[in-house]
Amino acid sequence: MDALELLLGRRSVGKLSAPAPEGKVLENIIRAGLRAPDHGGLTPWRFVIAQGSGLNKLATILSQAAIANQSEEAVVEKMRHAPFRAPMVITVIAKVTEHPKVPAIEQHISAGCAVQAMQMAAVAQGFQGFWRSGNIMFDANVHQAFGLSGEDQIVGFLYLGTPNFEPMKALERKLGDFVEYL
Ligand SMILES: Cc1cc2nc3c(=O)[nH]c(=O)nc-3n(C[C@H](O)[C@H](O)[C@H](O)COP(=O)(O)O)c2cc1C
Repeated sequence: MDALELLLGRRSVGKLSAPAPEGKVLENIIRAGLRAPDHGGLTPWRFVIAQGSGLNKLATILSQAAIANQSEEAVVEKMRHAPFRAPMVITVIAKVTEHPKVPAIEQHISAGCAVQAMQMAAVAQGFQGFWRSGNIMFDANVHQAFGLSGEDQIVGFLYLGTPNFEPMKALERKLGDFVEYL
């Protein structure tokens, strides 16, 4: 796939089925994440891959956190089912190193770039993805379950799999609405 075509046309697909990316394809997706811009060479990225029984573990982490927060039953139920919307969910974590010139936000942004690169790499290889978040990303119990500390942050849950339908066309946007010159 042409790189510009990918960059200009990418859409998210929420309905994803098996198979999930595996082998070299999955390795390429992770390697694309590892090419995210990285101020100071701090490599602030961790990728926790859940598939099969891992999806059950993720569902338990999320729903237990919702229960600990005394969330409504509907929210707990949502968390129990959320990870099963795709055959693979990669939790992308910004693992922050204290650095005099590279504040935590830059490391969070870098991890966000990794998510985008990974989604692109999935699409480039015939798979699809959806970047999801929610308050649960900032939850202390969820952070503990993933071994986060300090300013570490989950920046996304990247759902990956085989698209159930053709992605929609990219939205037309007027450049003038977004761009100005100094
Ligand atoms: C940090 C981040 C978190 C997101 N979290 C969600 C989410 O929890 N639920 C959701 O429907 N979309 C979420 N999105 C947006 C979707 O991933 C997607 O980009 C959006 O639906 C627009 O579709 P498109 O990518 O095809 O343009 C998130 C995007 C970002 C950058």
